[in-house]
Amino acid sequence: MNPKKLTIENIQEALRKQKYICDRSLATVVYLSISVGKPVLLEGEAGVGKTEVAKVLAEVMETKLIRLQCYEGLDANTALYEWNYPKQMLRIKLEEVRRGDRGAVETEIFSEEYLVKRPLLEAIQSDGSTPAVLLIDEIDRADMEFEAFLLEVLSDFQITIPEIGTIRAKLRPYVFLTSNRTREIHDALKRRCLYHWIDYPTFEKEYEIVMTKFPQVRERLARQICAFMQQVRQMNFYKRPGVAETLDWAAALITLSRHELNEKTVQETMGCVFKHREDLHHLQEELARHKLDLDAVVKETGAPAA
Ligand SMILES: Nc1ncnc2c1ncn2[C@@H]1O[C@H](COP(=O)(O)OP(=O)(O)OP(=O)(O)O)[C@@H](O)[C@H]1O
Ligand SMILES: [Mg+2]
Repeated sequence: MNPKKLTIENIQEALRKQKYICDRSLATVVYLSISVGKPVLLEGEAGVGKTEVAKVLAEVMETKLIRLQCYEGLDANTALYEWNYPKQMLRIKLEEVRRGDRGAVETEIFSEEYLVKRPLLEAIQSDGSTPAVLLIDEIDRADMEFEAFLLEVLSDFQITIPEIGTIRAKLRPYVFLTSNRTREIHDALKRRCLYHWIDYPTFEKEYEIVMTKFPQVRERLARQICAFMQQVRQMNFYKRPGVAETLDWAAALITLSRHELNEKTVQETMGCVFKHREDLHHLQEELARHKLDLDAVVKETGAPAA
């Protein structure tokens, strides 16, 4: 898709064609981000489609996806670049054997050929006709120091490698940061981003997602699955299931050739939805107390018991 011909409507449409159901509000943020060149910070609960936005947008824009997965202890070296020490050492040894001295190689081994590019440098250096999509996934897992370093990179889109010089982005990548809010992201970083919160989907949206991903599923079963999900998300579970769990469950029910929900099927397949023993136990209690109203689910209303 040509970035110059983008509209909110055709972003929404193009994402949908790639099986990502996108609300207008999200399409608006993506449109603005591309138009004004600001990163997007996507926050939301687990499994609601934050990472997928960036992946699908790269497909839609027919461009490269560069992903930086954040974790505790992630540092600038791992995110930006490192020198390829084994290759440098080998070159030094070879030169020593060949010429008997190593002096001349020292400038050469600190050139681009001996650089291991990590995602941020790769994104800054990427060329082509369309900017790459840079996904900085789960920024809340990284330390505050890394966040501060990122702030610099995202403000200037340039980095300085002392031995080589300053490298500036020819094309600013489309940047998406995601966070599960295990900690607050610093205001300074937020200020550089457009913000969007992805909520749990409505019944209608989730139904559309299920039908899009599994066109073979019976409509009634899809509605029952979504009604069940709506109910459990209103209850007090340790980990509320996201869309990822809904899709896993739908896939399992299709594999098992179940065409509708009943208590036995729910009991047998709940490991797709809840991944904590306490939650599975809580589910049993709620089913027994009829707080989780399976009858309403089977009738596809999803209404909580009175
Ligand atoms: N709106 C949507 N349309 C289509 N599929 C979706 C949508 N939202 C979520 N999904 C699907 O749900 C699954 C989980 O999505 P994703 O990995 O993007 O979630 P996440 O928010 O990044 O979760 P986590 O916080 O665990 O990383 C994926 O298979 C994705 O395709
Ligand atoms: Mg994710």
